[in-house]
Amino acid sequence: MGENTTERPATWLDGPLAPVPDETGARDLEVTGALPPELTGRYFRNGPNPRPGEPSRHWFSGHGMIHGVRLRDGRAEWYRNRWVRTESFVHGTSFVRDDLTFDRRAVQANTHVIPHAGKIWALVEAGFPYEVTPELETVGACDFGGRLTTAMTAHPKEDPVTGELLFFGYGVFEPYLTFHRLAADGTLAESREVEVPGPTMMHDFAITENHVVWLDLPVVFDLDLALSGTTGMPYVWDDAYGARLGVMRRDGTAEVAWYEIDPCYVFHVGNAHEDAAGRVVVDGARYRPENFGALWGDIGGTVDPATGAARSQSASLHRWVLDPATGRAAEESIDDRGVEFPTHDDTRTGREHRYLYTVGGGSIVKYDLRGQGTSAHDFGEDAHVGEAVFVPAEGARAEDEGWLLSIVTREAASDLLVLDAADLSHTATVRLPRRVPAGFHGSWIPDARSGA
Ligand SMILES: [Fe+2]
Repeated sequence: MGENTTERPATWLDGPLAPVPDETGARDLEVTGALPPELTGRYFRNGPNPRPGEPSRHWFSGHGMIHGVRLRDGRAEWYRNRWVRTESFVHGTSFVRDDLTFDRRAVQANTHVIPHAGKIWALVEAGFPYEVTPELETVGACDFGGRLTTAMTAHPKEDPVTGELLFFGYGVFEPYLTFHRLAADGTLAESREVEVPGPTMMHDFAITENHVVWLDLPVVFDLDLALSGTTGMPYVWDDAYGARLGVMRRDGTAEVAWYEIDPCYVFHVGNAHEDAAGRVVVDGARYRPENFGALWGDIGGTVDPATGAARSQSASLHRWVLDPATGRAAEESIDDRGVEFPTHDDTRTGREHRYLYTVGGGSIVKYDLRGQGTSAHDFGEDAHVGEAVFVPAEGARAEDEGWLLSIVTREAASDLLVLDAADLSHTATVRLPRRVPAGFHGSWIPDARSGA
């Protein structure tokens, strides 16, 4: 809060981000346009939602609340929202124990919600995954029979061919980074420590058919800042840390190959693949150092005063090509417009993709990476547009044959928008019974994947 301003809520407790005070639900929602009958399943979306009166020192803090919309046979059967009932939510249990170890059940499971192996997981990168039911009741935390000894990222990657769920945990103490693999049946099949120089904040990663790609970037944990208690997210930009992408064979048959890149931060990867020459191609939403500083300051982290004056918060789409023949990374900007939350057709995760979908400036922006440029569906500057989740059509032949689902919020009202992904035309609008705060990530969960 500025020292000379009158008291008003922090940026992340006001406007489109403002939390809602309670859990509600409604049936038989109003639909305009025509919902494709094959969209039968659930759209779940997670985000931080502090309880009324609860202090929140950072945009990324606040108990996880999942908003769910049930679609079936062309109708929108219900909406409901539920907090994820973690140990922290129910009992107020502290994440940091007296002996300075961490209780990974005492987290705010507020970042993503995904299906895997017939279960639905609410995720936050500090803790264990929390299972929720298709009706959004909390089942509980899972450490896979005691075998998971680190946190679990909120951005696991499911291999579309093997059905395995690849993920990692990063920590503020060693081991700083651990790779994990769930078999297609949901059992924890492998955990492997990976060496990085320090406690980097690793929000996302990428996979290819044969590799995992690590983002070892210069936003690192600061112990003094943590002990000072002045921020909920004690991570700072550290020029001395450097910036690297690491390519690790999934089968563990080689050391990690590290590639130096220009300093930046990446919260979100779009996708990655191996090209015909054996190079690893990674697309992501890249923050320049000065943009990261401004963003981090605005959302309740600390900020370097030398760079924090800028108020440009945008990331932009960027491509890195990692060549094992030269040991070098080539990088290029895909576009300079400000976008975030890149998504793709999940049936192509780790494989070559033609399209990426992003949001920015009140629009859903589609990138055709084969040179056809960009297209956008503009909802207007007054609209907050949530992550666009791609759902492939049954029997789709073209990569963009399917729909994009996104929650769009204007002032006190929110809609679930369904667009045709091919041309971004409007397909249907589901009027939600309440405003849904701008949150983080979500998934389309077809009935066959929900365990229902
Ligand atoms: Fe994220």
